[in-house]
Amino acid sequence: MSNFNKPKTIVANWKMNPVSFGEAESLIKTIKNGIQESDKTKIIICPPVVYLSKIKANSSFDLGIQNIFWEDEGAYTGEISAVIAKNLKIKYTIIGHSERRKYLNETDEMVNLKIQSALKNNISPILCIGETLKEKQEDQAIEVIVIQVEKALNNITKSQIINSEFQIAYEPIWAIGTGETPSINEIMSACLLIRKIVSNLYDRETAEKISILYGGSVNSKNAFDFVDKTGMDGLLIGGASLNGSEFARIVELFG
Ligand code: 13P
Repeated sequence: MSNFNKPKTIVANWKMNPVSFGEAESLIKTIKNGIQESDKTKIIICPPVVYLSKIKANSSFDLGIQNIFWEDEGAYTGEISAVIAKNLKIKYTIIGHSERRKYLNETDEMVNLKIQSALKNNISPILCIGETLKEKQEDQAIEVIVIQVEKALNNITKSQIINSEFQIAYEPIWAIGTGETPSINEIMSACLLIRKIVSNLYDRETAEKISILYGGSVNSKNAFDFVDKTGMDGLLIGGASLNGSEFARIVELFG
């Protein structure tokens, strides 16, 4: 069902790294120097929010914010809205990363509100979903994925999805930062399952329009197969995106 001619999307999620703008700048420089412009890949860099403007001014990469709040403005100390991100010309936002679900108790309902706010402000969501190790061991992964996708997309219309660059990242929590990864078959099954859920909620056209990414211990050795052999449209990369030459190597696999 996936379109193999679609450019592959490679997203760098820097999380709460690096700790100085100087390091962020040199990371961007290393990435820039390591890759060739290609219409076969689409790169999105998601740095800590305080670096966004400066990176935007100094590079041509598409940028994403790692999180947004669901209200547009007001007394919400410490939060950043989709409107603020839009006014900074940010085009993408990660929503519902498992680290936020875990450390900040983000719920599926909050994730849904954030998606609504992003879409209202023309920011394309990168929705993160995925099961824990316990859920996998107890054979609950499919149910967890179904619930997460259905709740995240509650009240979201087909046209909102079709008119955005909506992406769903399958990130099994047990694979994040652990060096453990699912098998090719498991990644392929997750990709098919997510398209099936979207197809059931909307239709086939919507399911084909959504990009599905894999994330969790991606490196330059496993990256190509995780996309090429599974039907995934790209990758969401944490640790390996903090090593500029390793990240560039991954991008170049698809160039
Ligand atoms: P790692 O690539 O470090 O496993 O992190 C994946 C991730 O959480 C990206 O959002």
